[in-house]
Amino acid sequence: MTLAPLLKLCLHSGYVWASEAVHGYACKIGLDSDEFVGGGLVNIYLKFGKVKEGRVLFEEMPERDVVLWNLMLKAYLDMGFKEEAVELSSAFHRSGLYPNETTLRLLDRVSGDDSEGDK
Ligand SMILES: *[C@@H]1O[C@H](CO)[C@@H](O)[C@H](O)[C@H]1NC(C)=O
Repeated sequence: MTLAPLLKLCLHSGYVWASEAVHGYACKIGLDSDEFVGGGLVNIYLKFGKVKEGRVLFEEMPERDVVLWNLMLKAYLDMGFKEEAVELSSAFHRSGLYPNETTLRLLDRVSGDDSEGDK
């Protein structure tokens, strides 16, 4: 059983409240730490600019793959959370994960002044 289709629906419908409801439900049935569901929720929160909530969930994930780190980093950068981006990038280095090309580009943006970002 999976909540993935529900998550997709939330993402497309554009309702943050719906993802919050799914999150509540996932917590209740003990699925919120499931990697896939959790990752989907983080994605939804970030898409709607709820970076703080996204980060909390991110921190709760038992397994964080590089895609998730990329999502989180990108959200911070896009929304101008510079300090958080810097802090997250050093957390990434401590995590021992290998950055992929997307991560490298994001890390570049963190360390450089991103005045010429590709918005
Ligand atoms: C790197 O991660 C991003 C997601 O953040 C993904 O879209 C991309 O395909 C990945 N690249 C490689 C080479 O794995």
